[in-house]
Amino acid sequence: MMPNNAHFSKCFWGAASAENFQENVKALIWSEFGSLSDTFMGDNLIAIGRNLSFLNDEKFMEAFRSVITPDNVPGQGIIWRIYTLCWAAKTSLKRGGDFVECGVSTGTSAKIMCEYLNSEDFSNNVWLYDVFRIDPRVDTSIYFGSSSSILDEVTGRFAPFPNVRIVPGYVPESFELNSPASISFLHLDLHDTASEIAALDALFDRVTPGGIVLFDDYGATGFQKQKAAEDEWMERRGQVILELPTGQGLVVKL
Ligand SMILES: C[S@@+](CC[C@H](N)C(=O)[O-])C[C@H]1O[C@@H](n2cnc3c(N)ncnc32)[C@H](O)[C@@H]1O
Repeated sequence: MMPNNAHFSKCFWGAASAENFQENVKALIWSEFGSLSDTFMGDNLIAIGRNLSFLNDEKFMEAFRSVITPDNVPGQGIIWRIYTLCWAAKTSLKRGGDFVECGVSTGTSAKIMCEYLNSEDFSNNVWLYDVFRIDPRVDTSIYFGSSSSILDEVTGRFAPFPNVRIVPGYVPESFELNSPASISFLHLDLHDTASEIAALDALFDRVTPGGIVLFDDYGATGFQKQKAAEDEWMERRGQVILELPTGQGLVVKL
């Protein structure tokens, strides 16, 4: 028997009052189902009557809690997204090829992924691409605030992982500086259509057959232009992106 699980976050992008919204939805579920167990709320996703088995993956929960504190509302909200990322990475461990993340910011999801894989036979290189500094082509203020030491912070954060390679610079130009020949897992989280398409142009041919491409914001309605461009790009390659309930998009390379 699976234990009863539940995860409640007040992370509801665009809600006038996420707190009220959560309380109202909880009351509604209680009145209809007589229970709040097996329920997920957060990241604009409400799921009822689900096992939520990732909450029972102790290694994942340990890695998640080592980075996301209980009061981190958006962090708690995106737990299912982060688990999907960790699953994709774990699934790619034995396939050979490196892992690549385009759009790292302060490295939250990559850090949880590395912590999660730490006890496994984790020797794949992890390549992290971001401008990591003020760049007029990217609105870094939303991600880094006014911090000018973000690269040092991220470098320090990944110091325990000798297989992590941090490549500062604008995507796709930074691929010229250093990039892997073979990729088993590619995570795209740039929030910029042109840059994500440029990353696909440069890297998709290096993704091994069976390799995974995960798009972070593919299913969110604020990113419809990005989705349309990525659908069109993949269609030309005979691939279809699966929209996941988390809002991510998933491709397994044919
Ligand atoms: C949504 S954040 C990434 C979040 C990250 N995956 C995490 O776990 O927190 C998007 C990042 O993409 C970076 N970015 C956007 N366009 C870029 C480009 N063309 N080249 C390099 N970095 C870019 C921004 O600097 C920002 O840090």
